[in-house]
Amino acid sequence: AANGNKPGKTRNIVEKMEESNKNCVVFYGSQTGTAEDYASRLAKEGKSRFGLETMVADLEDYDYENLDTFPEDKIAMFVLATYGEGEPTDNAVDFYEFITGEDASFSNAADPPLGNLKFVAFGLGNNTYEHYNSMVRNVTKALEKLGATRIGDAGEGDDGAGTMEEDFLAWKDPMWSALAEKMGLEEREAVYEPVFAITDRENLTKESPEVYLGEPNKMHLEGHSKGPYNAHNPYIAPIAESSEIFTVKDRNCLHMEIDISGSNLSYQTGDHIAVWPTNAGKEVDRFLNITGLLSKRDSVISVKALDPTAKVPFPTPTTYDAIVRYHMEICGPVSRQFLATLAPFAPTEASKAEMAKLGSDKDYFHEKISNRYLNIAQALESVEKNEKWTAIPFSAFIEGLNKVQPRYYSISSSSLVQKNKISITAVVESIELPGREALKGVTTNYLLALKQKQHGEKHPDPHGLTYEITGPRNKYDGVHVPVHVRHSNFKLPSDPSKPIIMVGPGTGVAPFRGFVQERAAQAKAGENVGRTLLFFGCRKQHEDFLYEEEWKTYKEALGDKFSLITAFSREGPSKVYVQHRLQEHAKEVNELLLQKAYFYVCGDAANMAREVNTVLAKIIAEQRGIPEEKAEEIVKSMRSANQYQMPKST
Ligand code: 2AM
Repeated sequence: AANGNKPGKTRNIVEKMEESNKNCVVFYGSQTGTAEDYASRLAKEGKSRFGLETMVADLEDYDYENLDTFPEDKIAMFVLATYGEGEPTDNAVDFYEFITGEDASFSNAADPPLGNLKFVAFGLGNNTYEHYNSMVRNVTKALEKLGATRIGDAGEGDDGAGTMEEDFLAWKDPMWSALAEKMGLEEREAVYEPVFAITDRENLTKESPEVYLGEPNKMHLEGHSKGPYNAHNPYIAPIAESSEIFTVKDRNCLHMEIDISGSNLSYQTGDHIAVWPTNAGKEVDRFLNITGLLSKRDSVISVKALDPTAKVPFPTPTTYDAIVRYHMEICGPVSRQFLATLAPFAPTEASKAEMAKLGSDKDYFHEKISNRYLNIAQALESVEKNEKWTAIPFSAFIEGLNKVQPRYYSISSSSLVQKNKISITAVVESIELPGREALKGVTTNYLLALKQKQHGEKHPDPHGLTYEITGPRNKYDGVHVPVHVRHSNFKLPSDPSKPIIMVGPGTGVAPFRGFVQERAAQAKAGENVGRTLLFFGCRKQHEDFLYEEEWKTYKEALGDKFSLITAFSREGPSKVYVQHRLQEHAKEVNELLLQKAYFYVCGDAANMAREVNTVLAKIIAEQRGIPEEKAEEIVKSMRSANQYQMPKST
């Protein structure tokens, strides 16, 4: 399927590699951008370490019928995320269906079709889901079945265990050795060649109408943004309401109502809203300062890709400030590999040596950088803060730092009740660290700043965050937030008389507020609503009990149909969690499941989802008097039949 490619652009990867002189393509199947970032890193490393002529390719931009003409002396890499319960990412659906299909028909009828294709593969998955890394597993199997040769092991990264980065690093080195041997590549002293050229545009200023200051595309720049609003084109939505809903002062939880009435956006209960964040002003300043760009922050520049297969990840002309503020993930964890590439550009001999050591010594890197949660600017400061790091080509940051991705939140309202207002329930992330300032979540602190701005709170900026909210053409003005909607399979049964069981500790309760709000409205309208069980957990009743008052009004509407079962983990001598409560309600839970109740789990408390899964199997075994293995099979089949749902990991 042609996907909006410009005319004249080929969808034949072999042709594309031929015409751009490439011998290595890194395909990615990515939903939220992580797999794409890993693909770029592989491409860069292949080039700098082995002199491979690499390119990165979105699976959706190419056809696969001609993979059978893939030359023997070239290499294809696949970086493939598995989405939710074993599904391909949106951009990999066509490829996946083609390659795993029984009748994949290739242009050349060679036998075996992919006898010439050499490939390597890495998967990104989450082992709290049933079909762990099934994309990379199934694609590897399918390619091999078609005669392709895998080089090295197919790697598997686990987001569930939080070991993605180390899984990737541990996979790639043996892979490179195997590949170098197979293709006769010689490792060389890594040479840095910039991918992007930066040109000063001295005739333009920040005020010039053609200069992008955070606008994602031309329509926004010209002030007439229009739909469809999606992952490339956010809607700048007014914030209708915002408040804090914890009663404690040391932690914040935001409830926000986003007005989508002017947008043509629509949502269904259970969908996700994507929020496009802005980096904290303080972090933007820190970055521009250490890199020596502070005095040039508002200079207008154009950025061009020197390699025709590379894409500039933001529109230009623009300014350093706008790139760093809106497009670069400057607050995320730093990759060891990236520090290694910066070593030659460090400002002193001592700092060069230190950077090289950080890049090559994993334990040292963990001790000095990752265990301390330093971001890139803090990492550079920690190595040498008295000099500016002006020798680092700006291109290296564009290449090496991830691009800012929208963040997804489970919508906490019902579309039946409020079709034009989307609510968000989010805990503001802030982690106190000994001996330094707290670690702040980018997006939730951005939302908190918007809330404070909306309420005109004259606060002494307790978090040291200053947001330049009056930025681009006043669109990001503190009462608007860029958003789009992502549809999900996390859904109520279409028949409201079906029973449901929901397990949602903490802000995991967000989608269930929407669910219960919806069922209460249906009950009020006289519909027959089934049993509605909600297990909610938090620390203490009088601290972080979300929507405590609201549940009472839903109870009035739903009567005996609704039960809220709470687990307060920090009130008694020992922890009480939602899964303990689930166990206590074993009898009813089992009965409802036998009536085909839908079962939902949402929340990011470590191991919670897995423990709930285990407890559920135990309940089924005990209540039905069957062996545990049998009960586990039942739970598995509930998951594949979508009777047991978890929102897709984002
Ligand atoms: P805790 O922080 O006191 O351990 C929302 O975050 C609630 O989920 C809190 O009450 C938290 O308890 C709890 N929680 C933490 N880990 C959990 C787990 N493995 N299973 C269920 N609940 C958990």
